[in-house]
Amino acid sequence: MKIDVHFTPIGLVPGDVSGRAVIVIDALRATSTVIAALANGAKAVIPAATSDEAIRVASNLEKDGVLLAGERKSIKIEGFDLGNSPREMTPEAVGGKTIVLATTNGTPALVAAQGGEPVLVGAAVNFSALLERVRGLLEERGDLVIVCSGRERQFALEDAYTAGRLVKALKGRKKVDLNDGGLAALALVGAYPDWDAAFQSTTAARQLVEANLAEDVGYCAKPDRFGVVPQYAERRIT
Ligand code: MLT
Repeated sequence: MKIDVHFTPIGLVPGDVSGRAVIVIDALRATSTVIAALANGAKAVIPAATSDEAIRVASNLEKDGVLLAGERKSIKIEGFDLGNSPREMTPEAVGGKTIVLATTNGTPALVAAQGGEPVLVGAAVNFSALLERVRGLLEERGDLVIVCSGRERQFALEDAYTAGRLVKALKGRKKVDLNDGGLAALALVGAYPDWDAAFQSTTAARQLVEANLAEDVGYCAKPDRFGVVPQYAERRIT
């Protein structure tokens, strides 16, 4: 059994993901937002690598059912309907809608993971459901790739910690072949007492506090809010 953890999508080549089971994590906040949106009734989320791409994609869809969402430096993009806060993804706001989402790190990581089979969307907020799904996949395939979105092309602690929690739970007492990213993620788990302590200590959390979005950190650090495991295929997440 083999698990590879990549701390950023930079340097990923198609061969790293092609045909392999892949999990993409941007715990603060993009993948938490995608999970909240779909759990609350959104029809689909289409990740865009840039805000211009999001506008282009949205303009080709029926206006009525589409919302543009996204952030730059954690703040809602001007002219967009929603930002990138999972707390905005209420049933009233997103029910029945297709959301085109552009974020700094999370949506580019999702786009980079295309080619995985399947590509699953993970975060603390769907941890147990994700774990159950991935256990089965790992048994079946013997192989898994975890792609952390990172932050501005660098390591992000909240994503690596989430990857480490997954590796730890999947590994149990089994002998699993981990790459160095997997070993480091696993070691990180013991450095924090819980999800909240890990997430609150991060640079991403500090940026959210400065943007008056401190509540999002606690929201995203609470595991198992949702039982959905979104899947990215044919350019949309459902
Ligand atoms: C991202 O994709 O970079 C993030 O989700 C940033 C954020 O909005 O907190």
